[in-house]
Amino acid sequence: MILVTGATGHVGGELVRRLAAAGEPVRAMARRPAEARLPEGVEAVYGDADDPASLDAAFAGASGAFLMSAQGVGTAPGPTHDLALASAAARAGARRVVKLSVLDGGAGSDVISRWHAEAEAAVTDPSRGFAWTLLRPGRFMSNALQWAGRLRSGDEVSTPFADRPAASIDPADVAEIAALALTTGEHAGTAYELSGPQSLTPADELAILAEVLGRDLRLRPVPDEAARTGMSQYGFPPEVVDAIMQRTVESDRGAEVLPTVEKVLGRRARTFAEWAREHAGEFGTR
Ligand SMILES: NC(=O)c1ccc[n+]([C@@H]2O[C@H](COP(=O)([O-])OP(=O)(O)OC[C@H]3O[C@@H](n4cnc5c(N)ncnc54)[C@H](OP(=O)(O)O)[C@@H]3O)[C@@H](O)[C@H]2O)c1
Repeated sequence: MILVTGATGHVGGELVRRLAAAGEPVRAMARRPAEARLPEGVEAVYGDADDPASLDAAFAGASGAFLMSAQGVGTAPGPTHDLALASAAARAGARRVVKLSVLDGGAGSDVISRWHAEAEAAVTDPSRGFAWTLLRPGRFMSNALQWAGRLRSGDEVSTPFADRPAASIDPADVAEIAALALTTGEHAGTAYELSGPQSLTPADELAILAEVLGRDLRLRPVPDEAARTGMSQYGFPPEVVDAIMQRTVESDRGAEVLPTVEKVLGRRARTFAEWAREHAGEFGTR
C-alpha cells in the first residue's frame, strides 16, 4: 500500500487519482479525512504532521510513501513536519519514498536552502533505508488559483513580481513522475529538477487565462516594496522575506525551461494553456 500525504493538495490529489486508476492500493492522509474528496475505494486516514502521534497509525503497513510538507519556512526552528513524516515512514518500514521538495533543494546558503537541505536529508539519509526520489519543481501553475476568488466577482487581479518569468509546471506532471517512482524501481536515488515547457510572467499567464475564459482580464502589479511589506505583515520572518526577494528579483533560475519532464515521461510537459482549460471552471463563469 502507498501512503500519500497532502492527498487533498495539488500534487497529492492527482497522485491519489493516478494510483487508484492504476489499481494500486493507496491510502490518503488528511487532517479532515471525512471531508476529503477521493476516488471510490481509496481509504482516507487522519494524519497531521503537527501531531506526530497520529502518523504511526496513518503510515502502518505502507510499503511506499509520498511525502510533502506545507509547513512554511521559518515558522519553526527547522522542518519539523518533514522530519516527522520521514521518521514515520521509516518506522512503518516503507521502502520507496518520494519527497516533494523545491527547485534547487538545499543548494545555496540562505534560510530557505538550509530548511530544504535538512528536509531532504531526512529522506536521503542512508540509515533510513529508503529507495528515495526527490522531486524539485519550480513554481506551480496552480498558484494561478490564488486569482480565482477575485475573478469570480471581478476582472482585475493584483500580483507581485508580475514581470518576473518562471517556467511554471502543472502539478499533474509532478504527480505523474511521483506515481512512476512509487510504482517502478527505476527512479531511486535520483533528484529531479522540474519545470514546465515555457517561461511565462504572471502577466503572460493571466493573458492566457483570459483567452481560455473568453474574458477581458486586467492585472495590477504590486510593487516589490509592497510585496515585501505584505509578506512581513503576513508573518514571514525577515530573513525569509529577504531570501524570497533575492530569489525572485535577482535570480533567473526559476525561468529556466528544464528537459526533465520530457526525459522521464517521454512526452512534453503540459502547457499553461492546457492547465487553464482543465481548471477553467474554478475561476467562475462571468
Ligand atoms: N506552490 C508552488 O509553487 C510550489 C513550488 C515548488 C514546490 N512546492 C511544494 O509543494 C507543496 C505545497 O504545494 P501547494 O502550495 O500547491 O499546496 P497544496 O497542494 O494546496 O497542499 C497543501 C496540502 O498540505 C496538507 N497539509 C497542510 N498542513 C498539514 C499538516 N499539518 N499535516 C499534514 N498535511 C498538511 C493539506 O492537507 P489537509 O489540509 O487535507 O490536511 C494539503 O493537502 C510544498 O511542499 C511546497 O514546498 C510548491
